[in-house]
Amino acid sequence: MSPASESFTGPFVDKGLANVVVADSVMSFIDGEKGVLEYVGIDIDTLARNSTFEECCFLLWNQCLPNADELASFTKELQAAMAIPDGLMDMVKALPADTSPMHAVRTLVSAQAHFDTECDDGSPEANLRKALRLTARTPSLIANFDRHRKGLELIAPDPSKTVAGNFLSILNGKAPTEAMERGFDICLILHAEHGFNASTFASMATISTLSDLYSAATTAVGTLKGPLHGGANEAVMKMLNEIPGEEDVEPFIKARLAAKDRIMGFGHRVYKVYDPRATYLKTYAEDIAKDTGNDRLFRMSKKIEDIMFEAVGAKGIHPNVDFYSATTYHCLGLDLDLFTPIFAMARMPGWVGHCIEYLQDNKLMRPRCEYVGPHGVPYTDISDR
Ligand code: ACO
Repeated sequence: MSPASESFTGPFVDKGLANVVVADSVMSFIDGEKGVLEYVGIDIDTLARNSTFEECCFLLWNQCLPNADELASFTKELQAAMAIPDGLMDMVKALPADTSPMHAVRTLVSAQAHFDTECDDGSPEANLRKALRLTARTPSLIANFDRHRKGLELIAPDPSKTVAGNFLSILNGKAPTEAMERGFDICLILHAEHGFNASTFASMATISTLSDLYSAATTAVGTLKGPLHGGANEAVMKMLNEIPGEEDVEPFIKARLAAKDRIMGFGHRVYKVYDPRATYLKTYAEDIAKDTGNDRLFRMSKKIEDIMFEAVGAKGIHPNVDFYSATTYHCLGLDLDLFTPIFAMARMPGWVGHCIEYLQDNKLMRPRCEYVGPHGVPYTDISDR
């Protein structure tokens, strides 16, 4: 039964929860019909062009832009929180080198709880400090896991560097160029927050039981991993790698569509027009592709976009944030299986921010299911089945 029905009196089935509003939030606004995304009222494109990941974390957690002093002291706190306890570094080294990085991220987000004496302190102040630690440490843990699996020495984060700078420095064992760091920082900004998407919602269900922030973030990582959500950026790159040449793009995509396959990096539950995060990423992907000699990859991506527009644009299927992230990350020299972990570290402020916000007026999340099975079934003895 749906609310549109005249005899509607209560709960109804809404598969995928598309029309369910779970709670209020002041963190971000999305208009899927107009292609608008704002963090605390500020247009995402403006933030991408002018802000930093650190400033966006402050904005999302405090609902205002910091002044210069506030930003300096917030950045200092974030940098101080980057230090990784020795035991946690040992846990990175204990992971099998051939495990998938997303499995490693899930374990390492969870493992941070063992090294936080405030883990079970649910006060808003302690939660904010934990939010800071999770956001500061997770990138260095991901980059160090990558070093571990490649047999390289682990590197401690440098508290004078930005989140983006630290991640790239640890990953590559050398400082990134300014342009590379800025480009990567913009990717972090674009992925930092997006309302009650599947992973954020999952983390909120966990925190609504009055569990802890580490458990909530771990739930979120597990949910982000799927190819219908954060795993799509990796799937896009795999698809691009599968297409032998530019002339093969059209037959490849058309064959996939004819087989009713989904083209990864297209479509969105909320956006029925161009994903506003993809607008900036497309421009950036084109620039960085040129700078790094990957023009062909960009041209192939653009061709896929054009074919998809003709084939399914009328259904409201357009590139989402994952589509041009794939080209961008590839051009930044990042390994394919790090694409989704990067999404996870970038979305951390969104996850923990929503959990803290929800706790201000917490209510246990407990939806119902519509039972459609039989009733009054006799219990048959095992010898008679
Ligand atoms: N390729 C081809 N057709 C598609 C795609 C796609 N990527 N996405 C949706 N469609 C079609 C469906 O086949 C369906 O067609 P029909 O009405 O003729 O049957 C129609 O569009 C509606 O699809 P739904 O599944 O109802 O749309 P929904 O809102 O549930 O799906 C989703 C959203 C899951 C993101 C979907 O578009 C998809 O699977 N995309 C590919 C995976 C992807 O890129 N995920 C990342 C999303 S962004 C993020 O999480 C950060």
